[in-house]
Amino acid sequence: MYNFDEPIDRHGTGASKWDAGPLMLRYGFCDHYDANTIPLFTADMDFSAPDSVRESIMKRARHNIYGYLAHAPEVDPAWYEAVCRWYRKRQNWEIEPHTISYANGTIEALKAAFRAFSNAGDSILINRPIYGPFTINIEKVGRKVCNSQLIADENLHYTINWADFEKKCAEPDVKIFILCHPHNPTGRIWTDEELVRMYEICTANDVLVISDEIHGDLIRSDQEFHPLATLVDGKNLITFNGVNKTFNLAGLQGTNAIITNPELKAAFDQAIDYISPNPLTLAAMQGAYEGGEEWLDELKVYLDGNIDWVLNFLHEHMPKVHAARPEGTYILWLDFRDYGISPEEIHRRIYFDADVLLEGGKMFDPDYGAGFERMCLSTRRALIQEAWQRIEKAFADLS
Ligand SMILES: Cc1ncc(COP(=O)(O)O)c(C=O)c1O
Repeated sequence: MYNFDEPIDRHGTGASKWDAGPLMLRYGFCDHYDANTIPLFTADMDFSAPDSVRESIMKRARHNIYGYLAHAPEVDPAWYEAVCRWYRKRQNWEIEPHTISYANGTIEALKAAFRAFSNAGDSILINRPIYGPFTINIEKVGRKVCNSQLIADENLHYTINWADFEKKCAEPDVKIFILCHPHNPTGRIWTDEELVRMYEICTANDVLVISDEIHGDLIRSDQEFHPLATLVDGKNLITFNGVNKTFNLAGLQGTNAIITNPELKAAFDQAIDYISPNPLTLAAMQGAYEGGEEWLDELKVYLDGNIDWVLNFLHEHMPKVHAARPEGTYILWLDFRDYGISPEEIHRRIYFDADVLLEGGKMFDPDYGAGFERMCLSTRRALIQEAWQRIEKAFADLS
């Protein structure tokens, strides 16, 4: 049994969540951070990784030579087998080893795909509200954002606006669609029907689908996750997945790109420059895939508990804050608009009065995100409880 309640002090480890306050203030990433701040802003977990990750890294470190690697199924079959076994067992997906490319993180993989499959000035389709760095990195490589806004019902259940999605896909400059599955920040796991429909519309319009599935293992215990690749022919599809989010190995930056269409794979591999992976990253990934299942199953139950605790707390103590139970991810997309105060006032109460660091809704949705906040429940429950007790106090005069 893993103990996710165990407090682990990350100060002094350079963790961006716990040690980067002064840097974030200097670069304007936040406007308040002090010794008392509870950081729940980034998708990073405060839990010790599975023992198998440490053991695998230590085994590699004992060899103590870290030169350039050749990474291919012929060279390292055990690594590929570990990856394939995981997705076969956990996601019912039969992956052929030669369809896997390695990338140094999902954002790097996305940028390589933008360069390989679109030209300067082309547009890339996303569904806002969405993970802010999609926008930032689309623009960084000289492409434009095309947004097909999701529609929320009164329970904050988000769905695709099909007429708009179809219209946007038909625009001649739209070349790529980034599907975020499960979706950050709304927590949606798209249904088979939704997935196939998105893929078919994109394919009919020559829009390449990139399915970002890096949250695919982090779903509620009562949910199922179906990779898009298991539902369609895959000719027009690139999938990114990995263990960065699942086992909190993002600092090691290892992402899989699964591409069954050989032409797309060749172009992607060229854009990513056939990189030589970090040997410790490969070791960590293999350790996680081979020995991380029990840890993940226990973690999922713990995260379910965190989410249910917050939703109950809101129901009982702060009914003006609305949130849907996310089907996947450990992220809550919180709607504070019922308080009827300005987004600046919401910000002041949470970030300064309660001293809890979140991410403001406009980072995910510049047009409609005001009044929303994103919270990551990827820490021990006692800290989440303290954060909400502080937030409740900061809004007490308005209840
Ligand atoms: C949907 C999504 N894609 C990509 C990333 C970044 O992944 P990486 O650290 O592998 O670049 C994140 C991080 O939170 C994310 O939520």
